[in-house]
Amino acid sequence: MSLAGRSLVTMDDLSNDEVEGVFSLADGMADSLGEQSSVCQGKIMASLFFEPSTRTRMSFEAAMLRLGGRVITAVDIGATSLAKGESIADMARVVGSYADIIVIRHPWEGSAKVVADYAGVPVINAGDGGHEHPTQTLLDLYTIKKERKTIKGLKVALWGDLKYGRTVHSLAYALARFGATILFRPAPGLGIPDHVVRKLTAEYGGELRRYGTADQSETGGLFSLDAIYVTPSTPHQLAMMADVSLQVELEKGVDAIYVTRLQRERRDAAKVEGDTRREYPVVDKRLLRERTFKETLVMHPLPRVDELAYELDADPRSMYFKQAARGVPVRMALISLLLGSKKADTGRDDRSRKPGTSHPAYNRGFGVRCQNRNCVSVNEEKYIKPEFKIISLKPLTLRCIYCEHETFPKYVASAEWHEGTLKSKRYHSSDSHWMKKIRPENLIIFDSESEAQSRGFLPGKYAEG
Ligand code: NCD
Repeated sequence: MSLAGRSLVTMDDLSNDEVEGVFSLADGMADSLGEQSSVCQGKIMASLFFEPSTRTRMSFEAAMLRLGGRVITAVDIGATSLAKGESIADMARVVGSYADIIVIRHPWEGSAKVVADYAGVPVINAGDGGHEHPTQTLLDLYTIKKERKTIKGLKVALWGDLKYGRTVHSLAYALARFGATILFRPAPGLGIPDHVVRKLTAEYGGELRRYGTADQSETGGLFSLDAIYVTPSTPHQLAMMADVSLQVELEKGVDAIYVTRLQRERRDAAKVEGDTRREYPVVDKRLLRERTFKETLVMHPLPRVDELAYELDADPRSMYFKQAARGVPVRMALISLLLGSKKADTGRDDRSRKPGTSHPAYNRGFGVRCQNRNCVSVNEEKYIKPEFKIISLKPLTLRCIYCEHETFPKYVASAEWHEGTLKSKRYHSSDSHWMKKIRPENLIIFDSESEAQSRGFLPGKYAEG
């Protein structure tokens, strides 16, 4: 298996077999960390970290140094030309001419994709705002697999800030694809975003069962689950089960609990009122005394704040320092594969088995903008053309190709207006019968009437739906 020249921006960029290929190479490298110094000799990695980081940056840099390569680094946006107003695209082009591979962490969702689009060298997303953090997921999965031998059929609880935590988004997609059951235990108000759920259910075909506060007793008070996701590859026992047996099922044990901190920086940037600190769920000795958690791996991407008690550090179930340590061989494997310095053995050639459904694109570049203020396409609109995947026609739902947030535009028109005269350029409500009449290749989408009118369209009879 060769990954030469490829980038890793989201978990979708790797098939399951490719993930396994990274793991098998990482296994070999972990056994001989000190003997890899000729693998990437003469290569340069640029590490651009425009958000705080200890582990991710240093483990990437340690990985490249162990491979015999060299590293150039920028860690402060204020010390780069981005602070002078340079675009991410220009920066990517320039850095791509200095380095053979780029690792980027940036606060805007979708920024890593822009770097990958312009750099001309492989790019690894080390965290783009609240979107994804795929290499963290690789080392998380690697840890689960090392400890449990498999991922399929495991029950993994995602705990804490599931809304802004990018590590849980990437991990949820990967767990779904590898056939694990996911238990969601968010802090109040910080549940897994709808667009992530929609991708899990629509793309990976699983089922989500939600719990209201009133049903919390169903889980036997063990821990207040918000939802359970069951993939199609596991028997649908949890989703189909009567409430009582759900409790029994949970008592049989949870395989891993993945704790995350409150992503204060993103919550503050979104100007969310209130203080959730007091209600934030804590994993401590008392919780882990429950039979459910008897053999549970306690995981955390780190850094921890108050959500994971220090008293657990010596507990053999605690995995977080092992996770961090495993980041080095996993990243060594990934870097050497993307640089083409290594091939991995998967036994299968599965480029064709990439995950995800292919949706039609909406790429006219006008009519709709991404509604996510933190999306790179909104912040760098000078050169980034908004682009979406049409993931549903009823209701009309578009997914931004950069940040993957969804938008639900209200108006549509056809590019094939009668006789091409201005007078017959009409827009209609996206939930009117017109939606079905317009051929997909002719579809023009507007997020507001003023946008439609500014393009010379007049309200049609069905503009109101
Ligand atoms: C995570 C991140 O940056 O998203 N940290 C990491 O990479 N190990 C998690 C976090 O910051 O909470």
